[in-house]
Amino acid sequence: MTRRQALDRARELMVAKNIESAALEAELLLRYILEIDRAQLYTDLDLELTPRQEKSYHRSIERRLQGEPSAYITGHREFFGIDFFVDENVLIPRPETELLVEQTIIRSKNYAAPLIADIGTGCGTVAISLALNLPDSRIDAVDISGAALAVAKLNCRKHNVQDRVRLLVGNMLGPLPEPADIIVANLPYVRSAELPRVNTIGFEPPLALDGGRDGLDAIRAFCFQLREKIKPSGCLLMEIGVGQKEAVTDLLAGIFPTGHIEVIPDLNGIDRVVGLSLSQ
Ligand SMILES: C[S@@+](CC[C@H](N)C(=O)[O-])C[C@H]1O[C@@H](n2cnc3c(N)ncnc32)[C@H](O)[C@@H]1O
Repeated sequence: MTRRQALDRARELMVAKNIESAALEAELLLRYILEIDRAQLYTDLDLELTPRQEKSYHRSIERRLQGEPSAYITGHREFFGIDFFVDENVLIPRPETELLVEQTIIRSKNYAAPLIADIGTGCGTVAISLALNLPDSRIDAVDISGAALAVAKLNCRKHNVQDRVRLLVGNMLGPLPEPADIIVANLPYVRSAELPRVNTIGFEPPLALDGGRDGLDAIRAFCFQLREKIKPSGCLLMEIGVGQKEAVTDLLAGIFPTGHIEVIPDLNGIDRVVGLSLSQ
């Protein structure tokens, strides 16, 4: 079977299972099996696969057809232009979370050598993207899952930021040894009743997604801990889900009546990041 035939077949099977971006996923998995980049793949689409390559590709397509996300099959996901290791202990980083990183970089200009806290770091995407783009920053990255932090540790080593990213296991802001200039958070915010509709359900850890009845259990608990761990001149950037803007901004306004609150939409126009500045 040639590369072209393998791609066509995989795409057809995925389309039949209503998998979005079937062509892209078929290509991603074939590149993973062949260990080649896009240009190398398309240079000669009529090359024959070896029997071993054919078998491995078939196996990975079968896993994808069973619903397993391709990021868990390949063990990698790109975020903010950076390659991260992922496994079933961590949420697969979402493109909309890049907004959190962009907004943190913008606000970091207000601080010399900022101390940043990333709460709910998962595989470390936000913390490591910030460390790589803000060379004067230090980052405390917290997660309640030790298994997730093991993946974050691998990613810190891969990107050589282990000296500036401190990984801390524990509940929300509890493990932070000192207040931070900037607190960034992407905590679970999916309503429990909506979990079955998440397309990766059964594969991603519920701990990373489940926000309780109204989706705000973790965010609420986090906001009530904030005062202790944010500097008086500090700011907060937090990712939220669809329809959560009012509840979260009301909550923050109640806790920080003099703080300046703004909401930033993602590229789809969904209110995605809530910002709070204490110094304005
Ligand atoms: C939505 S995921 C975000 C992961 C990562 N920041 C990203 O954007 O890809 C939420 C993360 O929060 C962690 N988490 C859940 N409850 C927590 C808690 N009480 N304290 C700290 N981390 C928590 C989960 O283990 C998970 O890694």
